[in-house]
Amino acid sequence: MPIDLMKISAYLLMGFLGLIQATQAADSPRDRHSQSNPEQVRVTRVELDLTPDFERKELSGSATLHFKRMPGCPDGAPLDLDTRELTIEEVSESVGESAFKPVRFELGERAGTISKPGEEDFARILGARLRISISDRATRVRVKYRTSPSAGALQWLEPARTAGRSHPFLFTQSEAIHARSWIPLQDSPGVRVTYKATIRVPKPLRAVMSADHVPTSGEPGIDQFEMTQPIPSYLIALAVGEIGFQSLGTRTGVYAEPSVVPKAAHEFSDTEAMIKAVEARFGPYRWGRYDLLVLPPSFPFGGMENPKLTFATPTILAGDRSLVSLVAHELAHSWSGNLVTNATWRDFWLNEGFTVYLERRIVEDVFGRDRADMEAVLGLKELRAEIERLPAHDQLLHVDLAGRDPDEGMNSIPYEKGALFLTTLEQSVGRERFDTFLHDYFEHFAFQSITTGEFEAFLTERLFGGKEEDVSRLKVKEWIHQPGLPTGFQEPHSARFEAISAESQQWVANERSLDSLNASKWSTHEWLHFLGSLPKDLGPDRLAQLDQAFHLTKSENSEIAHQWLLMGIRAHYEPAFPRLETFLTSIGRRKFLMPLYGELIKTPKGKDRARAIYAKARSHYHPIAVNSIDDLLK
Ligand code: BES
Ligand code: ZN
Repeated sequence: MPIDLMKISAYLLMGFLGLIQATQAADSPRDRHSQSNPEQVRVTRVELDLTPDFERKELSGSATLHFKRMPGCPDGAPLDLDTRELTIEEVSESVGESAFKPVRFELGERAGTISKPGEEDFARILGARLRISISDRATRVRVKYRTSPSAGALQWLEPARTAGRSHPFLFTQSEAIHARSWIPLQDSPGVRVTYKATIRVPKPLRAVMSADHVPTSGEPGIDQFEMTQPIPSYLIALAVGEIGFQSLGTRTGVYAEPSVVPKAAHEFSDTEAMIKAVEARFGPYRWGRYDLLVLPPSFPFGGMENPKLTFATPTILAGDRSLVSLVAHELAHSWSGNLVTNATWRDFWLNEGFTVYLERRIVEDVFGRDRADMEAVLGLKELRAEIERLPAHDQLLHVDLAGRDPDEGMNSIPYEKGALFLTTLEQSVGRERFDTFLHDYFEHFAFQSITTGEFEAFLTERLFGGKEEDVSRLKVKEWIHQPGLPTGFQEPHSARFEAISAESQQWVANERSLDSLNASKWSTHEWLHFLGSLPKDLGPDRLAQLDQAFHLTKSENSEIAHQWLLMGIRAHYEPAFPRLETFLTSIGRRKFLMPLYGELIKTPKGKDRARAIYAKARSHYHPIAVNSIDDLLK
């Protein structure tokens, strides 16, 4: 071949290869909520050495990151990390085991160029890219840094905000993209790391993490942890406080402030039975121990599935184990979410929809079909209300969250629509086949992060043997990529709920007295259904009758109290307002706060009340809750 022709074909070939690479990049699910570069240089292990300073509300120390270069990584590629509000003090690198040497780094001020309204907010949410100019042979970097007092993942509690009232408390909440506010790392659920941590805490405080506790050689004030299985960054978690422990079984136990431990141990006594229920159907529990940590009341969520150590709100300690489906839920994430993980936040329904489905299966196995059905009915009602509220483009399971805070994707669509879709699949192929399918799904994708597309391909292949007719008969595309609910699914039913609906209508129509309701036998679920089935315009006199008969304003069950207080606000039922204020100022669970503040601001007088209560409560809420409520009251 003449030289020129060879050159030309070489160029053509290079162009062709470049094209392939470009298409791969376009097809591969770019995580729009990370500014890191795992497709070039990928972090595989994180080693933390951190000291909390409760006075300054700051964590300081270092993160040592091990990384590898991916196939096709260009020479001179930097290591790009996510950070938010971190102060970077020094960055050094090491080749193999050699000593660390300082290396150049650059902390981006903001993400990209701002050209449209709203982009400023998004840039703040993404944080600042930390670009480290690693040399070609480097295998580790060490970042010395400190966090900001306003770090989104951290809540620093004063002693008065704890049960014991004598020691401060700190906890993290990394999901969805808050890990970057306390650790510089590649903060994408598509990147998995093992981790190790040394946490330096003064006695009598102790640290717990989503990892194994490593016994130290008796050095006081040092807690060490090791997570040997690769997990996404949003599952790295830490809590520090005066924390006690009680064992519940050979591989389960509960951590909480000492005065809360006995109540928590009583509430969670069914945990081992729940684990066995999942294992019998969907494969072994792969994480060794399963413990729970009950947090102080300001924890902004119901629960968080931190591996080996679920974080939970104390508002589920009802005394009668009626709210423990939350434990079933967080436990189920040990399969759906922690083992098989959503690759990006638009695939969030793979985490939550599967988990709600598994949660209901656990509840059915451990507490019976009736209770599972009741929870499914309550879930569907919530879903229908959500569909009314949300714009069509937010009703897709595979939702587009580009340019938005992924925390905005946390609504009933991924949870309840996702679970309903899986229930529909189960009903169509039969439970046995569906259980086998799910079992194989967890096995096949174990310790991987996958996209909705990968799930669809696996479903088509393994559940339907590649038959596209079945895929379209079951409206798979509609469920995943269309708004609303497809027609023709089976609705969950509860005979008990139907009886209660009939009775409540009779009471509303003055055809029945409250004493004839047999309400003393109702479970929490039945109460929630009863209250939810009452007309929205029930006046204060009717509420007073209910209150006199059932003492609802005094209810210590957080779910019932929440539902009752909502009704109280709507009806301007004054006797409930002192309790409303106590409720809003003592707990920080966003699921309760948002609807209550949301209901209050519907009237001018309510708005004043909301502002007054919020002025007292705001400094005690978690940054995540503060964000949401600031928006609401704006
Ligand atoms: N993983 C979620 C919590 C979460 C989701 C935190 C997205 C941040 C961003 C957890 O498993 C969850 O779903 N918690 C629910 C309880 C559950 C029973 C539905 C909650 O906190 O309300
Ligand atoms: Zn969940």
